[in-house]
Amino acid sequence: MNPAVDISIGDYIETERARVDQELDRLLPPESEPPESIHKAMRYSVLAGGKRLRSILCLECGRLFGVDDEALLTAAAALELVHTYSLIHDDLPAMDNDELRRGKPTSHRVFGEALAILAGDGLLTLAFEVTSQTAAIPAELQLRLINELAYALGTRGLIGGQVADLAAVEGKVSEDSLRYIHRTKTGALICASARTGALVAGAPEADIARVTEYGERVGLAFQIADDLLDVLGTEQELGKAVHKDGDQHKATYPAFYGVEESRRIAKRLVHEACEALARYGGRARRLQELANFLITRQS
Ligand code: IPE
Ligand code: IPE
Ligand code: MG
Ligand code: MG
Ligand code: MG
Repeated sequence: MNPAVDISIGDYIETERARVDQELDRLLPPESEPPESIHKAMRYSVLAGGKRLRSILCLECGRLFGVDDEALLTAAAALELVHTYSLIHDDLPAMDNDELRRGKPTSHRVFGEALAILAGDGLLTLAFEVTSQTAAIPAELQLRLINELAYALGTRGLIGGQVADLAAVEGKVSEDSLRYIHRTKTGALICASARTGALVAGAPEADIARVTEYGERVGLAFQIADDLLDVLGTEQELGKAVHKDGDQHKATYPAFYGVEESRRIAKRLVHEACEALARYGGRARRLQELANFLITRQS
């Protein structure tokens, strides 16, 4: 199914999100399955909402090279499983110590710290399980996707970024360190999401390189937008506390460059991301719209 190209970006995201949510519901163990507490905690955080942007980027990058959506849906949903794991752990008292996520009390507030840690672990593990048993994807490609995901999440990606993010509050960071933190803690998974779509589609290396360029820039711009929303957004719209980065002396783009310059940097990155796909003409329109949406969103 290729969603109509004439619907607005908002309606398009809504339609895609509903499909991803349905797949997530299918992949998650039911609450009634023992041990009920962990399955309840996993479903609580995943199904609390979320924009599903990583899945949508994955699906759209697959479409760019003509892949059948159904083949990609499980791999796309797996990205949201790991993303939610990262949020549950990011909110823990030992990390950012947040109480609100996706408009609801954070996992550790509802289920306690031990179960929140295990729910995160459960989601991370489930992502690899479902990716390794996607019938529509040949075994060799499954292995490539698992490698892609593991790299993006590991100490050279998300975990490395989170370590540096936590360490950065102790002192002023350099421009390079700030970029490293954002590129890894958030950019790596977003870039892997885009690449996953292209990989499943069997795109040639030159195309994968262009998608990577797009994903890297969008990933960095996304975290800059997240930093800006912490300064300029509202708790109601975001479903999470605001002004927490300043309170915790986090290394952010607005703290380093100021709001206006951060906006300019994010816009420039998005422009470059769109340019990277220019040769695909109208076929890349949605991906270009998505990139722009990511930095103009209010939530
Ligand atoms: C929030 O990600 C955490 C970051 C990596 C910046 P999202 O803004 O994508 O969160 P959800 O999935 O929509 O809740
Ligand atoms: C989150 O960054 C990055 C990961 C979860 C890996 P933030 O700490 O800025 O995300 P929010 O603002 O809590 O959503
Ligand atoms: Mg954090
Ligand atoms: Mg946080
Ligand atoms: Mg943030």
